[in-house]
Amino acid sequence: MGSGFGARSTAREVLEGLELRGKLAIVTGGYSGIGLETTRALAGAGAHVVVPARRRPAAEEALAGVDGVEIDELDLADLASVRAFAERFLASGRSVEIMINNAGIFACPEMRVGPGWEAQFAINHLGHYALANLLWPATHDGTRVVSVSSAGHRRSAIRWDDVMFDRGYDKWQAYGQAKTANALFAVHFDALAKDSGVRAFAIHPGGIRTPLQRHLTTEEMVAAGWIDEQGNVIAPGFKTPEQGAATQVWAATSPQLEGMGGVYCEDCDIAEMVPADDTAVRGVRQYAIDPELASRLWTLSAELTGIDAFAEPFVSPSSE
Ligand SMILES: NC(=O)c1ccc[n+]([C@@H]2O[C@H](COP(=O)([O-])OP(=O)(O)OC[C@H]3O[C@@H](n4cnc5c(N)ncnc54)[C@H](OP(=O)(O)O)[C@@H]3O)[C@@H](O)[C@H]2O)c1
Repeated sequence: MGSGFGARSTAREVLEGLELRGKLAIVTGGYSGIGLETTRALAGAGAHVVVPARRRPAAEEALAGVDGVEIDELDLADLASVRAFAERFLASGRSVEIMINNAGIFACPEMRVGPGWEAQFAINHLGHYALANLLWPATHDGTRVVSVSSAGHRRSAIRWDDVMFDRGYDKWQAYGQAKTANALFAVHFDALAKDSGVRAFAIHPGGIRTPLQRHLTTEEMVAAGWIDEQGNVIAPGFKTPEQGAATQVWAATSPQLEGMGGVYCEDCDIAEMVPADDTAVRGVRQYAIDPELASRLWTLSAELTGIDAFAEPFVSPSSE
């Protein structure tokens, strides 16, 4: 769309001239990496930022001295914890103007959570799916939900016949599938919510050196061309955390996106669709924005979690 911003824009730059006083934002993982910069930028522009944390002491330390921030508890791997956070928030009677589903894990060894779910799909997608649905009553006309996906979505479409990797685990494919799910979530959530004025966006933040890469060895990152053997970032396209936070902050606030939703953004603009054989780390694959696949993933997520804010109320045959 020619937003005027780009890969090197920072979160603070995209917020320049915007007044967020009186607005409430929820930023999952808002105490590390690009989430921390997102929290700082939104709070700096006047928003009240709720940061639900898996590790509360770490969040308190990271956010010490940042005004306008409230820390709560949330483990996206545990639906009971997601429910408890949502119930506390709803009980506070407040509404949410900005929800940034930013927390995530990346390329970890095989881990199972909840009833045996593959952890990257469960934490990155299902936990946020549940959170957004449970917080639906706190949204209103004007609320924006941002789903933090990744160019890593190109590593895998949804594996409909083995979503939980029961037939063998691959850490890259599992991340790819989870990030495709983050992108598809925004497509269907937006379709369901837009008549209420609630809009959703998916974004790729860029490549940024953060604690996200904790499960990779130095050798793997050197081989990928991201860092040298001393740990210095050498990938020319890598962003700083301040730049990495920009696209999600832009999607959450930009007046340029008024009336839009369900799109995948990168470098503070709407991304182009790229063909499956494209080798560049940019753009979005068709399977990550396909409305039918998005609807199918929604149905699967509702079945797995037992949560769907948009489900028709069940009418038993005897009560008809
Ligand atoms: N960095 C990149 O190059 C890059 C590229 C593309 C996409 N992304 C996406 O950007 C997002 C943020 O990444 P980042 O680089 O800022 O990573 P990060 O520094 O590792 O931050 C991730 C955050 O997610 C939280 N989290 C992890 N598991 C959680 C759980 N079970 N419940 C609640 N919170 C949990 C972490 O909390 P703890 O520290 O307590 O575990 C942390 O605060 C992720 O969704 C990632 O996939 C990043």
